[in-house]
Amino acid sequence: MNLKRIIQALLPFTLVIVVVIFILNIITHGSIQHPGKSSYQTNCAQCHGDNGEGVKVLIPPLKDADFAKNNFDSIPCWLKNGISHPIMVNGVQYDQPMYGLKMDEIQIANVMNYLSKELLNTDKQINSLQVKEILNGCN
Ligand code: HEC
Repeated sequence: MNLKRIIQALLPFTLVIVVVIFILNIITHGSIQHPGKSSYQTNCAQCHGDNGEGVKVLIPPLKDADFAKNNFDSIPCWLKNGISHPIMVNGVQYDQPMYGLKMDEIQIANVMNYLSKELLNTDKQINSLQVKEILNGCN
C-alpha cells in the first residue's frame, strides 16, 4: 500500500475529518469565544478586572455582583451616562464615579450578555432592540 493509495482511500472522508478536528478543537479549547468578551476586555476590564474582580474599595466587582443582578435593566443607562452616586455592591459601599462610555446598542447588548452568562451567572439575555428602547428612556 503506497501513500497515494492511502490518500485516495481517505479522500471521501475529508469532510468528516474536518468536522471531527473542529469539534475536538472546541472541546480542547473550551467553547467558541463569546462575542461580548472582546468588548468587555476593551471597555470594562481596565477598571473592573479581566475576571470582574474589581479593585479593592475603589471599583466594585462585576463577578456575582448583586447590584448588577438586581438592576440588570439599568445597565444600558449606566454605560451611557455613568454612575455618580454611592452604591452598595455585595455589602460594600462604593463611591467613585463611573463615566459614560461610547458604545452602541449592539456592543452594549453583547457585553451585557457576556456579563450575565460569565460573571453574574444568570440566564438573563438582552438584544440590541431592547437596549435601544432602554437607552431612549434614560434620564
Ligand atoms: C474608568 C473605570 C470604569 C470603566 C471603564 C467601567 N466601569 Fe463600571 N464602574 C466603575 C466604578 C468606579 C463604579 C462604581 C460607581 C459608583 O460607586 O457610583 C462602576 C460600577 C459599575 C456597575 C454597578 C456596580 C456593580 O458592580 O454591579 C456595573 C454593572 C458596571 N460598572 C459595569 C461596567 C461595564 C459592563 C463596563 C464596560 C462596558 C464598565 N462598567 C466600565 C468604573 C468603571
